[in-house]
Amino acid sequence: MKLLVTGGAGFIGSCFVRMALREKHAARVVVYDKLTYAGNLENLQPVAGRPEFRFIQADILDGNAVESVLHEESPDAIVHFAAESHVDRSIHSPAPVIETNFNGTFTLLEAARRFGLKRFLHVSTDEVYGSIPEPLDADENYPVRASSPYSASKAGSDLLALSYFTTYKLNVTVTRASNNYGPYQFPEKLIPLMISNALDDKPLPIYGDGLQVRDWLYVEDHCNAIFAALEKGSPGEVYNVGGNCSLPNIEVVRRILNAAGKPESLMTYVTDRPGHDRRYALTNEKLTRASGWRPQMDFNEGLAATIQWYRDNRDWVARVKSGEYQRFYELNYTSRS
Ligand SMILES: NC(=O)c1ccc[n+]([C@@H]2O[C@H](COP(=O)([O-])OP(=O)(O)OC[C@H]3O[C@@H](n4cnc5c(N)ncnc54)[C@H](O)[C@@H]3O)[C@@H](O)[C@H]2O)c1
Repeated sequence: MKLLVTGGAGFIGSCFVRMALREKHAARVVVYDKLTYAGNLENLQPVAGRPEFRFIQADILDGNAVESVLHEESPDAIVHFAAESHVDRSIHSPAPVIETNFNGTFTLLEAARRFGLKRFLHVSTDEVYGSIPEPLDADENYPVRASSPYSASKAGSDLLALSYFTTYKLNVTVTRASNNYGPYQFPEKLIPLMISNALDDKPLPIYGDGLQVRDWLYVEDHCNAIFAALEKGSPGEVYNVGGNCSLPNIEVVRRILNAAGKPESLMTYVTDRPGHDRRYALTNEKLTRASGWRPQMDFNEGLAATIQWYRDNRDWVARVKSGEYQRFYELNYTSRS
């Protein structure tokens, strides 16, 4: 299979590309990525020299560039990861998030429809369901009730993608995954931020009371779920992808400190995020039934492996943390403590 992977220089997309080539899920992989602050060619270093791999720096909002690559490469499928992926950024500055996540997806769908693409896998998030009251777990029929500009942009792009199946019979499948963690994650999301601060003996800023519950999914488990959905998923369907590991944020932070051998006195509380969802929880049963996929990674083991990766790759962290990220950190944490 030949794959065109948008956002393939980001955290999850680059893991997917490394796995696709390492485990021979694909005969050719073309990464299409704008290289925003979150895109990093270093994440693709392990596959950079391979003849089956090509990198194109371009914006998904550029319809002409998308059409040219479709004609040049004739991929069997687009796997669409490219997005502005951070909720806090979407609160401070929603416009680029709506542009990339909604209009960018629209541009890709239009190009795919005109080209007659065989398969379109749209990577989405459980955040589209909004906060889920206990004891419910969202299945794929749970109402979409997004709370932030980020989750609303993803919900809108999910519906648009599904409409291309209903209206134009474009072979679209949507996956909705829970919170990912693992190596190469930009240190603005909870786990890599807390690991990176813990390793530097800096305060670990916890939003509000820290009792927001998230389901944690190891990034390689997520990528295997996407391979499963690509290979066994049905057109026009949505598949949830969860890690079967629900934990309050504060418990995640305690486990990080414990595993990194750092004191709990590093925890500090900052003002909560506006509209912060209290609880995400989802069931994976539909994807398991369709493909046999199940998450494999135990959370404590995945966390230990992730901490070890950040210990071993402090230069990578230092490089991605310089510049633009520093300004974002100050806006989000320093000015709200
Ligand atoms: N991180 C999570 O926990 C999580 C959970 C569920 C779903 N998702 C979804 O998975 C996808 C990937 O998430 P991630 O955490 O790897 O994100 P990321 O922020 O690490 O990477 C996003 C990538 O998209 C690229 N990009 C951004 N705007 C672009 C544009 N206009 N044109 C081309 N490329 C562009 C960036 O350069 C970057 O390489 C996103 O669609 C996200 O909504 C993420």
